[in-house]
Amino acid sequence: MPLTRFVRHLLLVLFLLVIAWGTAAQAAEKEYQPYEGQPGRDVMWIPTCQVLVDRMLDMAKVTAEDYVIDLGSGDGRLVITAAKRGARALGIEYNERMVEYAKRMAAQEGVADKARFTKADIFESDFSEATVLTMFLLDELNLQLRPQLLKLKPGTRIVSNTFEMGDWKPDETAVLKEKECREYYTALLWIVPANVDGVWKLSRRGELTIRQTYQTFSGTLKSGKDMTLVYGKLNGDQITFNVGNAVYTGRVAGGAIEGTVESGGSTAKWSASKASGKPQ
Ligand SMILES: C[S@@+](CC[C@H](N)C(=O)[O-])C[C@H]1O[C@@H](n2cnc3c(N)ncnc32)[C@H](O)[C@@H]1O
Repeated sequence: MPLTRFVRHLLLVLFLLVIAWGTAAQAAEKEYQPYEGQPGRDVMWIPTCQVLVDRMLDMAKVTAEDYVIDLGSGDGRLVITAAKRGARALGIEYNERMVEYAKRMAAQEGVADKARFTKADIFESDFSEATVLTMFLLDELNLQLRPQLLKLKPGTRIVSNTFEMGDWKPDETAVLKEKECREYYTALLWIVPANVDGVWKLSRRGELTIRQTYQTFSGTLKSGKDMTLVYGKLNGDQITFNVGNAVYTGRVAGGAIEGTVESGGSTAKWSASKASGKPQ
């Protein structure tokens, strides 16, 4: 056989081999079926049952305005369900084949434009843009993430399937009936509180000292005499507390608070600026 013909044949054979390999690889990927309990980087894959997925997103009040990130997204069901509600959603998943699987599921469900997936380690990822974070990990993994979670924008909603955050107690808990989900049927919601710990100068007169524990706080108001502050509560950037028979409400924006105080049937405005404490 002349050399050029031999080379042509060789090229044809190589070309066919590449096509065959590509088709086999595609078929193998298409056939990939995750199985419950398969090992993961820090935690195995067990899917959240769909009733709980819906409940978790209801608790977080997910709308089309939200950016939802699922930490360890598995087959993508939380991300896909959030995208069906119109939200932008991202799944961070360490297992590359699960990422490809979830992408195919999103395409099948017609939400590939809103539901994205990336292969990454959640402990090396930046999820600070999320308005809603979802997770089904483990207590100890939640605890490892907690410092990062507490730095998220006040008002960010965090929903966990079953697992807790140590002494940061949830703002809301929902337990489904056992028969609705075979196991793992508890949804827990946390709303990232603004940081108000420290000393605040009231714009009129006086000083507010706040000792914060996550979304609750105690403290004192010095205005002539010292008065104890009670029922201190944060819902994201919304603050409320009582001093004597006065009920204070307001909004925290960085180092400033503005709001109203109701006492004895009358309402007045109040504001304060942070004088010392942890930076915002
Ligand atoms: C219990 S499953 C939850 C899946 C999904 N979020 C759900 O609720 O249906 C946990 C997932 O986290 C993934 N995972 C474990 N460690 C991870 C890590 N360090 N970074 C990213 N994903 C991880 C696992 O592969 C698995 O898919």
